[in-house]
Amino acid sequence: MHDPMSDCDSLLECFPPCFRWGVATSALQIEGAAARDQRGPCIWDQFCRRPGAIADGSNADTACDHVRRYRDDVRLMSSLGLGAYRFSISWPRVMPTGQGRVNPTGLDFYDALVDELLTAGIEPVATLYHWDLPQSLQEGMAGWLHDDLPLLFADYAQLIFDRLGDRVTSWITINEPWCIVDGGYFNGAHPPGLTDRRAGYRAAHNLLRAHAYAVARYRSSRYNTGQITFALNTHYSFAHSNDPQDRDAAQRAMLNFAGWFADPAHFGDYPAVLRERLGDLLPVFSTGDQTLLAGSMDYVALNYYLSDVIRHAPGRGEMEYEPVAQPHRLHTEMGWPVVPDGLTHILLWLHERYDQLPIHVTENGAAFADHPDDTGRVNDPQRITYLRDHLHAVADALERGVDVRGYHVWTLMDNFEWSHGYTKKFGIVRCDFDTLERTIKQSGHWYADLVRRHRQLTAQRPVEETA
Ligand code: GCO
Repeated sequence: MHDPMSDCDSLLECFPPCFRWGVATSALQIEGAAARDQRGPCIWDQFCRRPGAIADGSNADTACDHVRRYRDDVRLMSSLGLGAYRFSISWPRVMPTGQGRVNPTGLDFYDALVDELLTAGIEPVATLYHWDLPQSLQEGMAGWLHDDLPLLFADYAQLIFDRLGDRVTSWITINEPWCIVDGGYFNGAHPPGLTDRRAGYRAAHNLLRAHAYAVARYRSSRYNTGQITFALNTHYSFAHSNDPQDRDAAQRAMLNFAGWFADPAHFGDYPAVLRERLGDLLPVFSTGDQTLLAGSMDYVALNYYLSDVIRHAPGRGEMEYEPVAQPHRLHTEMGWPVVPDGLTHILLWLHERYDQLPIHVTENGAAFADHPDDTGRVNDPQRITYLRDHLHAVADALERGVDVRGYHVWTLMDNFEWSHGYTKKFGIVRCDFDTLERTIKQSGHWYADLVRRHRQLTAQRPVEETA
């Protein structure tokens, strides 16, 4: 009988024995229990109540009810043989107003989750901020626009390091600052719903400062032997043509997207081209902040979904480039083009620009419509193809010398997809939002087989190779 995994053996040969296979989620998208156990409100709770803000008029009050079902969810991950679980901690669950009073029930929840994961042999990868700012920091202090917010974030981070740092050794400070700014301050599709470019650059600046302060706290804490970074989302920008102007434009786009955040976190300042073109829209870091920022990524955490084709566009904004449509590509339900080789390119670009830091792919996945058939089975071949092709892209990067150490599928189960509500499904597990029942999709079985197969292959390798 044909073994569907045998095709994957050559792919898996490229992955080192200690490669970390995981999935990712975030607190707001799965937890539910929004108004229980003294959790404070967050900016998304409020935003969901704005008419028209969420495509299906839904909210995250219950989501996947993970707070009550976390033990089952860990068992589910264990049944899939996963080695790592990236989740986020809800700031308002542990500090209802974002500062001062601590909510012991909230801390106990994450404590128990971490223990449950470790007992199941799953490495916890904890993100401190995945977009759910306590509402009172937004109302009382203008959120990320307030220059003191980074200090409050560092206090919150310290609380978490003190509580979980004896067991969690993989940390991510802030998830996707680019998305926070783009959605929250440039196009208004996310809270706080502004369309104010100057405010966006200020928020970005404070997110970077918050990251740097949290890293400094971690490194001076008693549990400082782990790895800490932030999660960078970026596309790769292919040049539309070989014309040097298009090639320069594509490089500018890379610096304007990845470099906007990763350059300060690695070199201590924004890319020169942003400074030249954006002028005083771009705030200036103090010398102290620059010192804290430089070297503040222990590794690059990359969230990758799609890539762009970019051409030079004289006079178009300060950066003078524009994307070119890619109609020949398959597009996901999000309308995102599927570009697996963009992942190889971005891994190479990050490897070269950031001094060969190790890289973890901390999110990668796709929204496709899927439904259970009459037998209850959820067949999602497009998602399997997406994941397989992107893992081939990772393998290509590994073969070219990039130090990729882990891969996390976005996401464990269908969940609240921000302004799209529950209309977009990224899970390798289906969550029925009426019954909250979980069903492993075919992609989930496929991924579990892949992880298992990698383990077997590794075990078969000669000892000197695996050492
Ligand atoms: C993001 C977030 C996730 C999303 C995922 C799919 O990247 O926007 O990290 O929370 O759900 O990316 O859009």
